[in-house]
Amino acid sequence: MESTFGKNIRVTVFGGSHEPEIGVKIEDLPEEAMDIDEERLQSFLDLRAPGNGPFATKRKEADRFEITDRSQSEDGSWQLRAVIKNTDQRSRDYKKLADVPRPGHADLTARYRYGDGLNMAGGGPFSGRMTAPLCIAGGIALQYLEKQGIKIGAHILSVGDAQDRAFDPLAPEIDMVKGMEPGKIASLSEEAAEKMAAVILKAKEEGDSVGAVIEIAAAGVPGGIGGAMYDGIESILSPIYFGIPAVKAVAFGAGERAAGMMGSENNDAYCIEGGEVRTKTNNAGGILGGITTGMPLTVRLSFKPTPSIAKVQESVNLKEMKEEQLRIEGRHDPCVAVRAVPVCIAATAIGLMDAMAE
Ligand SMILES: Cc1cc2nc3c(=O)[nH]c(=O)nc-3n(C[C@H](O)[C@H](O)[C@H](O)COP(=O)(O)O)c2cc1C
Repeated sequence: MESTFGKNIRVTVFGGSHEPEIGVKIEDLPEEAMDIDEERLQSFLDLRAPGNGPFATKRKEADRFEITDRSQSEDGSWQLRAVIKNTDQRSRDYKKLADVPRPGHADLTARYRYGDGLNMAGGGPFSGRMTAPLCIAGGIALQYLEKQGIKIGAHILSVGDAQDRAFDPLAPEIDMVKGMEPGKIASLSEEAAEKMAAVILKAKEEGDSVGAVIEIAAAGVPGGIGGAMYDGIESILSPIYFGIPAVKAVAFGAGERAAGMMGSENNDAYCIEGGEVRTKTNNAGGILGGITTGMPLTVRLSFKPTPSIAKVQESVNLKEMKEEQLRIEGRHDPCVAVRAVPVCIAATAIGLMDAMAE
């Protein structure tokens, strides 16, 4: 199965969790984006790879990418195709899920939509594993945006009731994020990371899972990117964010908090700084009318708790059409957000690169 994002630069992710490979095809890349530092790209992918530390699934995948095509079109734009081999599938863990769907996962709805021929082992095309090829495209976009003076960062803002401090919306401390390493919790405060780790490990011990919020910031984004209505930055970024499995809410700037403010509080007052128009606050998260203001872009993504949990759950047997208890085998993340931080950065980079190519 494959799925495509993008209007100007098209990113197509293909494969499945227990297929021989997963991969990405990128079409209409500008020449400058083809100057790829492959070592840095691999390090970026490593941040998401499974098998590292107590917060991630024990599935062991090296997630080494291989570029299988680099070609230039007659109009001068570039195409790139890259794959990652799946090496540690354990499909037996998923046999019984074909008839007894996991509550909270896509097993039942995938069957409604695609019938029972789809390989849903490991979550199939709905798996968090599909975010690995997204990170290849995102890592390339990130390197391209850096050359344009744009920097993107993210951290876990909260897990359950454990909270990190938020980015400064006027000057996000992207370089201050700690724990940007495989298997670690990315946060601004180390104390918060310890508290979040404790919440995740407690959920894991109890055979449960826990949700989280990831905060993303992009600095150096010039004013004037995006457009009216469906060409707006929120309209461009939201589909790629919702393409990340388990994302349930997207909030730009003050997001839903804006609904509780007075206009005089929410409006970001203008000022002149260094000869440029700036705002004194940034409730808009760097976007007004779908167009960037030149202030940092800030977004929060809410992740639901991992659906696959060790606790016994109520489900149904679709073959026998009777209710049945389900005990899930297999290896799962107790909090998907831990490995999703680079994915959020990748999605933002791809969306911005596409919007900037307009
Ligand atoms: C990085 C990442 C890892 C994930 N790992 C798991 C996992 O181990 N087990 C699981 O049940 N769901 C996992 N998910 C979430 C499911 O893929 C997702 O909840 C499911 O496809 C249903 O889609 P929805 O939650 O968007 O409705 C992961 C998601 C991401 C982003």
